[in-house]
Amino acid sequence: MKIEILTIFPDIFSSFLSESLLAKALAKGLLTVDLINIRDFTHDRHRTVDDRPYGGGPGMVIKPEPLSEAIDSRLALGGPKPFIINLTPSGRLLEQVLVGQLAQKERLMLICGRYEGVDQRVLDLYSDMDLSIGDYVLNGGEVPAMVLIEAMARLIPGFLSDSSSVQDDSHSYGLLEHPLYTRPRVFRSLSVPPVLLSGHHAQVAAYRLGEAMAKTRAVRPDLLEKKDVMERTIMFFSQSSSPLKGKDNK
Ligand code: ADE
Repeated sequence: MKIEILTIFPDIFSSFLSESLLAKALAKGLLTVDLINIRDFTHDRHRTVDDRPYGGGPGMVIKPEPLSEAIDSRLALGGPKPFIINLTPSGRLLEQVLVGQLAQKERLMLICGRYEGVDQRVLDLYSDMDLSIGDYVLNGGEVPAMVLIEAMARLIPGFLSDSSSVQDDSHSYGLLEHPLYTRPRVFRSLSVPPVLLSGHHAQVAAYRLGEAMAKTRAVRPDLLEKKDVMERTIMFFSQSSSPLKGKDNK
């Protein structure tokens, strides 16, 4: 997977890309990330990337010329047609199913808006999707781009040493994840639920399904309303490849 990020703050990404699993994935070539500074495509002395909104109103708008030139410079390099995403609080909400679909794309271009947003004409000309990571407003699209990249990278085969942990994540089958425990068996007089020590895979699976349902009902009842959530959950808990079936950490 190839990702190109268009931003006026490329340095925000440096430690994100140079630490931990993402750095390893880049070194292994599982994905590539190119940072493109929109300011490099300005032609005035002040390297201006923004201007006042037509029609009035607060804040500034990203100008169309430098951003479109930045995109054109990448398209001129050839290669597969990129799927171009504009990160904005007024976009489609990112959730796990969409993460999975975007992770299938060969080439993604991420536009990180700042200020009030991006001139609509560039979006009309180039963008395939407006995408939001949640119903709150951040200072720009850089943190949302990192959120999207990390969520997609976890799905790339070889990114995680134990890829079955992805299947078990919250949201992967539509419910929130059940609680997790590790050693010691008793911590500050709190014991690990005995069923998890039983070695009985079917009982462990039933316990975890019950916990996942209870947590989802308490914290995110809206998820239970989704169309195929119960089908996906039953499929997950009955799959022979389910990590719940194969592991015994008595
Ligand atoms: N830019 C600012 N806030 C955002 C959000 N919530 N999602 C995506 N891009 C944004």
